[in-house]
Amino acid sequence: MIRELGRFERISAHSHIRGLGLDENLRAKDVADGLVGQKKAREAAGVIVKLIKSGKMAGRGILLAGPPGTGKTAIAVAISKELGKDLPFVHVSASEFYSAEMKKTEALIQSMRKAIGVRIRERRIVLEGEVVGLDYNMVPNPYNPTQKIPESANLTLATTDEKRSFSVGSRIAMQFVSQGIGLGDVIILDKETGRVSKLGRSEKAKKKYDIGDEDLVPLPSGKVEKEREFTYVVTLHDFDEANARRGSIFSLFGGGSREIDNEVRHEVDEQVRRLIEEGRAELLPGVMFIDETHLMDIELFAFMNRAMESEMSPIIILASNRGFSRIRGTDIVAPHGIPLDLLDRLLIITTEPYTRDEIKTIIDIRAVEMGVILDEKAIERLTDIGERMSLRYAVQLLAPANEFAKLRNSGKIDLQDIERAESIFSDVSQSSAYLKKWEEKMLGM
Ligand SMILES: Nc1ncnc2c1ncn2[C@@H]1O[C@H](COP(=O)(O)OP(=O)(O)OP(=O)(O)O)[C@@H](O)[C@H]1O
Ligand SMILES: [Mg+2]
Repeated sequence: MIRELGRFERISAHSHIRGLGLDENLRAKDVADGLVGQKKAREAAGVIVKLIKSGKMAGRGILLAGPPGTGKTAIAVAISKELGKDLPFVHVSASEFYSAEMKKTEALIQSMRKAIGVRIRERRIVLEGEVVGLDYNMVPNPYNPTQKIPESANLTLATTDEKRSFSVGSRIAMQFVSQGIGLGDVIILDKETGRVSKLGRSEKAKKKYDIGDEDLVPLPSGKVEKEREFTYVVTLHDFDEANARRGSIFSLFGGGSREIDNEVRHEVDEQVRRLIEEGRAELLPGVMFIDETHLMDIELFAFMNRAMESEMSPIIILASNRGFSRIRGTDIVAPHGIPLDLLDRLLIITTEPYTRDEIKTIIDIRAVEMGVILDEKAIERLTDIGERMSLRYAVQLLAPANEFAKLRNSGKIDLQDIERAESIFSDVSQSSAYLKKWEEKMLGM
C-alpha cells in the first residue's frame, strides 16, 4: 500500500481494520476483520467491492453518510483493503483543497492521481532476503527537530544460503520506516534505484516473533544479490512529478507541492498507456476518500464530475455527517451540500450509531491492536465515554492513558489512568463549547 508520510496518524487510527468481515454470501459476521456491527453498511460495501471488481462502478462514486464516529472512515479503509493490498488509498479532507500554494482544482486532480497506481514489472539486479539485522542511525529532522529521521541504517539480509550486511543511506532507510519493515520481513531492494518492496513475513520468522496475520512467504534461496523480475507500484502523481522535473520516476522523496502542467499529465497518460499495451505495466485504480464533503464548492464538484468520466479515475468515496447543507459557492441547499448531478452518480451507504456492546468491543479491539491492556473498570469507563461523548474520543484516550499507566509502573490501564487522561484532554464538543462561552463573555464586555 502506498502511503504518504504525513498521513500516518490518520491511517493508524484504523490499523486494526483488515477488511469488511463478510462471509461468501456477502453477509457481515458480528465481529470480523477488525470490524464490529454496522452490518448493513458493511454488506452494502461488500456489494460495491464486487461491482468495482467487475468493472461496473465506472463513472460512479460512493457516499458514506452518518453521524460522527459511526465508522465512515473505517468502512472506506475496509473497502480499500478488500480491493487489494497494493492499491493506493488517499484520505483527504475537502478543506485541504484550499491552499495558498495551488489552485483548488489542481489540488483535487493531484489527489485523484495519487490514488491511481501503476504496477510496473522489470528485470533488475536486486537484493532479496529476510531482514535479520536493522539498525538505524537516527538524527533530528532538519525541518522539524521534534521528529527524528534515519540518516542511514545497517541492514543484514539472509537467504537459505547466505547472509550479507549493507550500509544504506537515508532514502532507503526512510522507506523501511514508512513501510513499517522490520526484523523477519522478506524484502526486495532494487540495487540501482534503491526502491524497496516488502514481500511479506518470513515463515521462519513467524515462529520466532509470532506477530500479526500478514502474508507469509518462504525464506528466499540462493544468493542475496541476483537478477530477477521486480514489481513495484508508483502512482500517476509520482509520474507527473518526475516528468515535470524531467528527472527519473525514481526520485521518491524530492519535490514539494506545486502545480503541474496539464501537458505533462497528458504525456504521462500516454506513457502509461504504452507501458500497459506492451504488457509491462498494469493500472491499479485505488481509492480517493474525501472527508467533510460539504466543504467542496460548486467548482470542485463540477471538476470532479468531469474527471470521474475518465478511464483514469480512482474510486471516489465521499463522507458526510451533514443532512442538508448549502452547496458552497451557491445559494442552493442540497442533501449533504452535494449538487444533484453528482448525487445521481453516487451509491449511498448510511452508518448508524453503535450500541454500548459494540462500542466496548471496538475499544477492546483497538487496545489489542495498540498492545495495551485495560482492566474491567477502565474499559467500562471508556465505553461510557464512547457512548456519552464520541467513539473517536474514547479511542484517542487510550494512548495517553497508557502513558499514565507506565508512569505508575503498571502494564495495565486502570480507572484512574482513564480519568487522568479524560481530565486533561477534551472532546471536540467540549473544546468548542468552552471557546463559545469565552466568545460570549468577550462580546458582553
Ligand atoms: N464498526 C467498526 N468496527 C471497528 N472499529 C470501528 C468501527 N467503526 C469505527 N471504528 C473505529 O472507531 C474510530 C472512530 O470511527 P471513524 O473515524 O471511522 O468514524 P467516522 O464516522 O469517520 O467519524 P467522523 O465523522 O468524525 O469522521 C476509528 O478508530 C475507527 O477505526
Ligand atoms: Mg471520519
